Amino acid sequence: MTRHASKLGCAALLALCLSASVCLSGVAAKSSYTKSSKSSKSEYPRAPPGTLLATAELKAASAVTSNPGGITGGKGFTYLMLTKGGPYTSYIKLTGKLRQVTMAHVHWKNATAKNPIRLGLFPSVTAPGTPVLLNPPFSYNKGEVTFERAWNETDIGYWGTNLDTFLALLRNGELYVNVHTVTYPGGEIQGTLKCKSPCRFQ
Ligand SMILES: *[C@@H]1O[C@H](CO)[C@@H](O)[C@H](O)[C@H]1NC(C)=O
Ligand SMILES: *[C@@H]1O[C@H](CO)[C@@H](O)[C@H](O)[C@H]1NC(C)=O
Repeated sequence: MTRHASKLGCAALLALCLSASVCLSGVAAKSSYTKSSKSSKSEYPRAPPGTLLATAELKAASAVTSNPGGITGGKGFTYLMLTKGGPYTSYIKLTGKLRQVTMAHVHWKNATAKNPIRLGLFPSVTAPGTPVLLNPPFSYNKGEVTFERAWNETDIGYWGTNLDTFLALLRNGELYVNVHTVTYPGGEIQGTLKCKSPCRFQ
């Protein structure tokens, strides 16, 4: 597997870089674009003792699979890593191809409550309860788009909850990562977060 074109660090104020010349603003996250053709689960970090790690594989959302003729070329994987007392990080890697990606979040699997957001992944959310769409959305045909960001309790507080509640949902397998696109505003690819047992700070 050849991996080249590693991190193209757009400055801290920017974040999503699709190529050296294309950077979209509005995402307060470190990110990078690589042209590797493969991704592997082994890229998940090893969680140091006392660190909490939750991972998810991203695949076609039910809105896609239940739509006759619905199809997505997108895949990906994602993780949340929490060190006791911080820092907390989120990482998401999109592979395959996707058109017009607008945003990604961690949601609570609760249809009654309309599967509400519990943490923003990209672009960054900076006001309570206010999802932000990338403008313009981005598309990619091959390769990988990755986003990594640090987050804290403020980011969870934007969605009316706190870290204890968030971790309880995580332990119960009630959180999933959802990537929204213009074609599938409710989510085109998604995956349930699985938290490594015991999913508690040691
Ligand atoms: C889902 O959300 C509703 C409305 O907020 C709440 O009443 C209900 O208890 C939640 N379901 C679960 C399983 O927590
Ligand atoms: C979270 O991080 C933001 C940005 O760095 C900071 O302004 C805020 O005070 C932090 N919140 C907590 C609860 O640490």
